[in-house]
Amino acid sequence: MSDLLKVTIDGKSIEVAPGTTILQAARQIGDKYPPAMCYYTPLKNTGGKCRVCLVKVSQTSEANPRPIPKLVASCLTKVENGMVVENESSAEVLEARKGVVEFLLINHPLDCPICDQAGECDLQNLSYEHGTETTRYEEGRREFNKIDIGPHIQLHMTRCILCYRCVYAADQLTNSRVHGVLNRGDVSEISTYIQNSIDNDFSGNIIDVCPVGALTDKTYRFKQRVWFSKPYNAHRNCTKCSGKTVLWMKDENIIRVTARKNKFGEVEEFICNECRFDHRSKTDWVIEGVRDMGDDSVISANKYELPVVSPAVLVDSKFVSE
Ligand code: SF4
Ligand code: FES
Repeated sequence: MSDLLKVTIDGKSIEVAPGTTILQAARQIGDKYPPAMCYYTPLKNTGGKCRVCLVKVSQTSEANPRPIPKLVASCLTKVENGMVVENESSAEVLEARKGVVEFLLINHPLDCPICDQAGECDLQNLSYEHGTETTRYEEGRREFNKIDIGPHIQLHMTRCILCYRCVYAADQLTNSRVHGVLNRGDVSEISTYIQNSIDNDFSGNIIDVCPVGALTDKTYRFKQRVWFSKPYNAHRNCTKCSGKTVLWMKDENIIRVTARKNKFGEVEEFICNECRFDHRSKTDWVIEGVRDMGDDSVISANKYELPVVSPAVLVDSKFVSE
């Protein structure tokens, strides 16, 4: 008898190994998988923070055909044999996701026009797919000053959604984590311990794992909108990491170096700070070719279409919409 477990998600079935989560099974089906703002496959113990991956389990298992009474986080819930899951096919899930996006945006500033992450921001994409056009929030938003985290990274705490990815990245990739989440609830914030800087070979990876523009690369800030830069796969011989990167070019200049990400937005191989920050000459790299960013990227498509606006007419010296 097979040890594999059968799960059906939005009417499509797949057999997966024991221990597989609903999110991973949905990604294996590869169609419409739940979004994830905190779960990150290359990092241990991530997930369970943001709640955007909620799904409905309408049958727990073959042996227990009852539904799970509440929506569950698909990044943490493991598949059982005969489980039936509703993701995009459930109006309840879509409504809940809309609510989660609204909560994530409560304190997030709408500063996309001046944010370096615009065009490659998971929250921007999530709001586009699952958000509402207006906010009902009338209270004051959290305010913070910008914080320098070491020589290369700047923290805009106002944009942070407290996904904890950077904390796990710093904890698991470096041997001297000096930043983390201070306090709890609505006063939680990412902070460096007594303003220590993060200064070790793999600290730059916290920029890549941040799903929003909270952690930005100081060498790239305000250099270019991402959709005007050209990404190339490149590599170099590096003694600290694989040396496999993406070079972001403006004309003939390298304006940014990042790790390569897969179609789920997750880093394939973490890179060292020397590759990321210190090699900005084309002669430092073997350029492999233009990077395919996939259909979802704003670089590949005119994703953000202009709304259709009725022509304006002049009435009493003022323009008004027809
Ligand atoms: S700074 Fe970015 S990666 Fe870190 S917790 Fe906030 S949103 Fe997540
Ligand atoms: S991705 Fe599942 S809770 Fe954040």
